[in-house]
Amino acid sequence: MSEANGKKATLKLNGKEIELPIYSGTLGPDVIDVKDVLASGHFTFDPGFMATASCESKITYIDGNAGILLHRGYPIDQLATKTDYLETCYLLLNGELPTAEQKKEFDSQVRNHTMVHDQVSRFFNGFRRDAHPMAIMVGVVGALSAFYHNNLDLDDVNHREITAIRLIAKVPTLAAWSYKYTVGQPFIYPRNDLDYAENFLHMMFATPADRDYKVNPILAKAMDRIFTLHADHEQNASTSTVRLAGSTGANPYACISAGIAALWGPAHGGANEAVLKMLDEIGSVENVAPFMEKVKTKEVKLMGFGHRVYKNFDPRAKVMKETCDEVLGALGINDPQLELAMELERIALSDEYFIKRNLYPNVDFYSGIILKAIGIPTSMFTVIFALARTIGWITHWLEMQSTPHKIGRPRQLYTGEKQRNIDR
Ligand code: CMC
Repeated sequence: MSEANGKKATLKLNGKEIELPIYSGTLGPDVIDVKDVLASGHFTFDPGFMATASCESKITYIDGNAGILLHRGYPIDQLATKTDYLETCYLLLNGELPTAEQKKEFDSQVRNHTMVHDQVSRFFNGFRRDAHPMAIMVGVVGALSAFYHNNLDLDDVNHREITAIRLIAKVPTLAAWSYKYTVGQPFIYPRNDLDYAENFLHMMFATPADRDYKVNPILAKAMDRIFTLHADHEQNASTSTVRLAGSTGANPYACISAGIAALWGPAHGGANEAVLKMLDEIGSVENVAPFMEKVKTKEVKLMGFGHRVYKNFDPRAKVMKETCDEVLGALGINDPQLELAMELERIALSDEYFIKRNLYPNVDFYSGIILKAIGIPTSMFTVIFALARTIGWITHWLEMQSTPHKIGRPRQLYTGEKQRNIDR
């Protein structure tokens, strides 16, 4: 736990003064420790956690005004262009980038855990074929809680570490199967001779009939970069959900399932699917202006725009846009939706409504267009976000489990009925 830095805030309440310690991190705003407010008979009030630091963490740092995102100190654009996803996973888990030897070992550890227990495949049959793949993911990842009984002692560091590896390795298998199930194709088993992104694309698109199916290296590279750009994002809604669930000592697989559920909403990870639906609805460039009017009258939101923390630009969106151009160029795709997206961006960036509210494209604005170019169906977009974010969730879970923590238990401002009696 960080030490108070000697500075104090003073809160005047009912004629009394309460001194509140202030802590400094390595970067970012100081935080005021408000615990002592409780003794005065008050709670603090911050719905939506606009100004609340819910924990201390060493994993990821965001400066929303400067558009900075660092994982263990390294900028996201460098990680996206100079490392692969598994190296970023290693960095998040261990705090340092791997040496060549460590990378080889980590890679092989992940490859050795890509299979799921055969019983797990039976859970899929309980779903309707038209189930949303995210609904399947919430169920089947949660179902992993019923396996691995021998490695679930949360006080045992080895158990915690093997859980992290299992999750990183198995979630792509379950993600690909959630797609295969909905299109009525047989599940394709993982191939450990392929790298992480290739293996995922193989499980998504290979079929028993197409024995020579080869993953296009351009698509595998783009997929890997999309995974890296989504790997972690400090205390966002789904990560906070994982931490809150984990604070009770719940099964880690169940905690990750809770994270997947929180991610699903269109205000969070569900936005990438919503962007493509929005572009489909707008249809063509001439419909952009009337659509923007609807946004300004708050009939609809411009999906893929705005962020709670980024108020200047989302550094992930910048790399995503470059990747989008690279992928479409390499594949020779001239997607009219890209033109549409650029027109939306152009208007939004020059319109007073968006400027005043600091609304910029976020990571989800361009990811959908790349995913579409890779051949990923829209309903799988958020599943891919969940797959990539699993490392972030489990790293935060590990950090919490390895440090003293209390159960997360917020209070409330009660505005319901006062006590009354049943009058009969
Ligand atoms: N389109 C139009 N107006 C918007 C948008 C948007 N996408 N986002 C925010 N606003 C307006 C909002 O109506 C409000 O206006 P006013 O001040 O007149 O009431 C103002 O901007 C502030 O918005 P807010 O809702 O208070 O901001 P927030 O920090 O609570 O919400 C957000 C952040 C991401 C939920 C929101 O911007 C949003 O819903 N965006 C669209 C969904 C989206 O793209 N989500 C992906 C986020 S990035 C990936 C991830 O981390 O999951």
